[in-house]
Amino acid sequence: MSWIILVGANSDMAKAAAGNFARRGYNLCLLTRNPQKLNYLTSYLSQSYKVKVIARYFEIEHFLKFKHCWDDLKPFPVGIIYFIGYLGEDSLNISYSEIEKVYNLNCICAVKMFNYFSLKFIDLNRGSLIAVSSVSGERGKSMHYLYNSAKSALSIYLQGLRLKLMDRKIKVVDIRPGFIKTKFTKFYGIKAKMAVSPEYTGEKIFQAYKSNRGIVYIPWWWRWLMLAVKLTPERLLGWITLK
Ligand SMILES: NC(=O)c1ccc[n+]([C@@H]2O[C@H](COP(=O)([O-])OP(=O)(O)OC[C@H]3O[C@@H](n4cnc5c(N)ncnc54)[C@H](OP(=O)(O)O)[C@@H]3O)[C@@H](O)[C@H]2O)c1
Repeated sequence: MSWIILVGANSDMAKAAAGNFARRGYNLCLLTRNPQKLNYLTSYLSQSYKVKVIARYFEIEHFLKFKHCWDDLKPFPVGIIYFIGYLGEDSLNISYSEIEKVYNLNCICAVKMFNYFSLKFIDLNRGSLIAVSSVSGERGKSMHYLYNSAKSALSIYLQGLRLKLMDRKIKVVDIRPGFIKTKFTKFYGIKAKMAVSPEYTGEKIFQAYKSNRGIVYIPWWWRWLMLAVKLTPERLLGWITLK
């Protein structure tokens, strides 16, 4: 049975995606800072769907020290999904270490890990590299301006990687959610009305893994909403987002 690695597996979205992969017969390797929080999920999924589910302690900023987490999986995993995200502070007066943390967790760590796994997948001539970016990476905004720019860098990296690997049997997928109801975000007003559940998102991530699309918006209509946002003049957008 094939293994899938979920990085940042305590994310609400990752937990929902894990259920969708396990239900379809995939073994799961859940990498997280808090494996003990996944005890219930791992035993529930393995007993319900008769697959192997393991949760392992993992620190993304030192990922090469954690190679043992996947080196003993046989056969080598067929896919890796990067869920880690960090909003960070929103002021201009933030420390350099906080700026680095936002870029590291949202982009640079994913780049390091995906380059490493790309080489493994090239040797095997198969594999899927999937990262959860965000629609907010498509246009600069005053709110969470660093997070948005880090997600933007992640999306452009994924596009380049997809082109680099296009002649091989390796998929590179950029998942771009809009608003999802998770512990990451609190929504009010119009945003709450537009937010979808982690369960819906988990199913869409599984469908994205099976499809041949490079960029997947969740829900799909964010593609068109973001087109309108990108066409909006900057001053007007700034005025609207201040309201
Ligand atoms: N919720 C939304 O509306 C929304 C919209 C667009 C994009 N996204 C993106 O979707 C992804 C999943 O987010 P979510 O909404 O499911 O949020 P979540 O439940 O809060 O998950 C956040 C994830 O980030 C990881 N993380 C946070 N700080 C970390 C740190 N210092 N070191 C290592 N890992 C850290 C956590 O890993 P552990 O497992 O180790 O705890 C967890 O996997 C993120 O990339 C987020 O940017 C979310």
